[in-house]
Amino acid sequence: ELSFIHRYEPATETGRPPLLLLHGTGGDENDLLGLGRMISPGAALLSPRGKILENGMPRFFRRLAEGVFDEEDVKLRAGELADFVAQARQAYGLEAPVAVGFSNGANIAAAMMMLRPEALTGAALLRAMVPLSEAPQADLAGKRVLMISGAMDPIIPAENSAQLAASLSAFGAEVQHQVLPTGHGLSQTDLQLLVRWFGGR
Ligand code: MLT
Repeated sequence: ELSFIHRYEPATETGRPPLLLLHGTGGDENDLLGLGRMISPGAALLSPRGKILENGMPRFFRRLAEGVFDEEDVKLRAGELADFVAQARQAYGLEAPVAVGFSNGANIAAAMMMLRPEALTGAALLRAMVPLSEAPQADLAGKRVLMISGAMDPIIPAENSAQLAASLSAFGAEVQHQVLPTGHGLSQTDLQLLVRWFGGR
């Protein structure tokens, strides 16, 4: 019995890393399957549902207010999720995945990358912000990170996402940070950038 409710789709092509799909607040394990199929066709998809409920809306960690995180819970939940990834890799015979997270899912992916770097080979972080006020030291050499932020995102100030990109690259990750003229929601350009970053078809 794996420790998160999840969806799993096996790979239909070789040579593509599995995707760990992490939904935003109020989403679930079904939300990002279509996105995953589009951005890395044929890759295995592993898509857990966040265990925290905020007024009935699933999330991956507790927050005190919008953009104000319960950092002890962030650490606990990032560990739980990394443990789930390890279990699922064993159960399904997978290599380490690339996380694809949106909003709250991007924030837990960023936390997991810093706290449990072995869990992920890379991450695409869509509308991510700094998950922990003191970035834990991590060796992220060899990890690829794509961050896509919105210049008009009402939740995430530009300097906040820039700070996350700077920490990840200071720890050795190969970070590409794109800032689009958009808000918190995803746009067609996000899709194009993701497809390109994953190596196209
Ligand atoms: C968060 O709580 O992770 C951020 O505020 C993004 C969100 O989920 O709205």
